[in-house]
Amino acid sequence: MYVCNCNGIREREVRAAIEAGASRPAEVFRACGSQAQCARCVCDMRKMISEQDQALRFAAE
Ligand code: FES
Repeated sequence: MYVCNCNGIREREVRAAIEAGASRPAEVFRACGSQAQCARCVCDMRKMISEQDQALRFAAE
């Protein structure tokens, strides 16, 4: 499934970027070798980053 239609960035690519340390959408774009265009996907990226962050906190408890 595509998260970013403008750049053709798939959900698994976003997750890989987050797991590699991306903590902001701009870092996800950089990790994928692209940049924001319409920015409609930024909210979804933020949500995925937040979910990953919460999962890590939960695992650390
Ligand atoms: S959908 Fe990602 S920049 Fe447009």
